[in-house]
Amino acid sequence: MEIWIEKHRPKRVEDIAGQQEATRILRGFISSGEMPHLIFAGPPGVGKTTAAICLAMEMIGENWRDHFLELNASNDRGISIIREDIKDFARTQSITEGKFKIIFLDEADELTPEAQAALRRTMEVYFKNVRFIFSCNYSTGIIPPLQSRAVLIRFKKIEDSDMKKALKGVSEKENLKLSDDIMDAIAENAEGDLRKGINLLQSLSYVEKPTVRDVYEIAGNVEEKDIIPLLSNARHGNFEEASRIGMSLLIDSGYSALDIIKGMHSLMVREQKQD
Ligand SMILES: Nc1ncnc2c1ncn2[C@@H]1O[C@H](COP(=O)(O)OP(=O)(O)OP(=O)(O)O)[C@@H](O)[C@H]1O
Ligand SMILES: [Mg+2]
Repeated sequence: MEIWIEKHRPKRVEDIAGQQEATRILRGFISSGEMPHLIFAGPPGVGKTTAAICLAMEMIGENWRDHFLELNASNDRGISIIREDIKDFARTQSITEGKFKIIFLDEADELTPEAQAALRRTMEVYFKNVRFIFSCNYSTGIIPPLQSRAVLIRFKKIEDSDMKKALKGVSEKENLKLSDDIMDAIAENAEGDLRKGINLLQSLSYVEKPTVRDVYEIAGNVEEKDIIPLLSNARHGNFEEASRIGMSLLIDSGYSALDIIKGMHSLMVREQKQD
């Protein structure tokens, strides 16, 4: 079984869903053949690693794998080993003159400020043939001296319309036919995270005649139509009825209290947006 998120990971910057601002900057680098050190900041599953790989493929070309090093800052190998890896990789000359290598450091905001500070010199010493891309959820986790040495590129949650377009693309390639309300439910449950969306899609592909309810169940969320009566009773002061519904969701349907609160929260957010 192939995992769809890997199978359908875009290979070119222009195929990245959403992220118009980020990809506009990246296309600029590709057409100029030059790029500075970069910081990719944004929530999970929105294309940061994907964009780094696309950039490497398009800037470096055929042998990109030999010139691209992906490291995860949050594993327990320690910064000294990470720095050794970086030095070993950076030290060897690029095969083609004028070309550079890319070091992609995932979860860079997990590095301690001291560890980040230790990278400053490495970035400068090897600038001739190495560019860093730091990936993080929040750019505030990156110390100012690194921020000033890099260009910040923000990645955003994938908007609903882009999410649906991307999900449709994957479904078509996989010959999976789902009704519009199921696609809507997937987009809703993915909450702007395309990795989550594609994973939901793949899980549903194993379900015979899937329903909207299946989408919520696989995502571990309470369906809105179960939350609506709970919330409306509570709002009208019918607390007994509201708590009866709540208890039934807990006991009969097996949701956790947190699932129910999350369901109420997302319903309220949706109502606000519709107003
Ligand atoms: N903008 C996007 N366009 C196309 N596919 C995407 C996009 N974002 C995510 N995906 C899909 O989701 C998968 C995971 O995305 P990616 O690894 O780029 O996320 P990330 O932003 O690096 O997340 P994390 O912060 O968790 O590392 C990709 O392999 C791809 O299938
Ligand atoms: Mg990533």
